[in-house]
Amino acid sequence: MSWKNVLVDFEDGVAWVTLNRPEKRNAMNPELNREMVEILDALETDDRCRVLVLTGAGDSFSSGMDLKEYFRETDGKPAAVRDRIFRAAADWQWRRLRSYPKPTIAMVNGWCFGGGFTPLIACDLALAAEEAHFGLSEINWGIIPAGNVTKAIATVVGNRAALYYIMTGKVFDGRRAATLGLVNEAYPMGNLRAQTLSLARVLMDKNPVVLRHAKTAFKNIDVMDWEIADDYLRAKQDQTRFQDTERGRERGMQQFLDEKSYRPGLESYRRGE
Ligand code: COA
Repeated sequence: MSWKNVLVDFEDGVAWVTLNRPEKRNAMNPELNREMVEILDALETDDRCRVLVLTGAGDSFSSGMDLKEYFRETDGKPAAVRDRIFRAAADWQWRRLRSYPKPTIAMVNGWCFGGGFTPLIACDLALAAEEAHFGLSEINWGIIPAGNVTKAIATVVGNRAALYYIMTGKVFDGRRAATLGLVNEAYPMGNLRAQTLSLARVLMDKNPVVLRHAKTAFKNIDVMDWEIADDYLRAKQDQTRFQDTERGRERGMQQFLDEKSYRPGLESYRRGE
């Protein structure tokens, strides 16, 4: 597998997907976005990828949308052409990533600006370097946070903080990102990769079918009222049991109730028998 603007490496079940335009601080141009659509499609059915980690090459996660190739160079183009170019960005940055069947972790290793927030938030979990720098910089160059950045930020950060950063464009670090709930944890840069791998291993230990439906349910539920949510979750539960070939529910109960060999509150059931 090789692409011009993205690196894909496999390590013990983890697919490291690295945005690779370090000379442009990993700004996302149309070609990179088209490649990411292909990569997400390919990894969906690739057994070497059990957890996907999204990160950036060099000292940047992503400096956002490529200001030159996405904005200046498309300004004079017909609307249909611009729509198509922007669609590739949406296709991977939130549409595919948000409902990705495998667990996803964003590992923010440096600069993260504007459009970079969308794939960051669309990943299930996120870890950052304490030294990373985040900013909703759109206000600084005369636009609003589109590219679904505003929608994304509203799903993880409260009103006051979201509006503060949308309206001021102020930069904040990884520790603050963790306090805001934008990422799960922040670690010193030297420790970030090991911590990410360790989180990926926790996820790889879980039943992948259950993991998939648990996260999908959570992401879909916020638009439902309580009655519909209850019905949807019961149906989702049935769907999970139907698709779960390792029969986790039965195994878990057998190991807890009959064999008395584990405590589900404190650990996972044994999957490999
Ligand atoms: N779009 C296009 N090009 C970008 C870019 C972006 N979003 N971000 C960085 N680049 C390019 C620069 O134009 C420069 O290209 P050049 O070498 O051909 O001149 C190169 O990347 C390095 O950028 P530079 O500003 O010199 O790097 P730096 O390390 O001093 O600063 C940033 C890094 C991220 C703080 C700075 O590049 C920046 O502010 N980028 C824009 C961030 C932003 O507002 N993004 C929102 C887009 S939605």
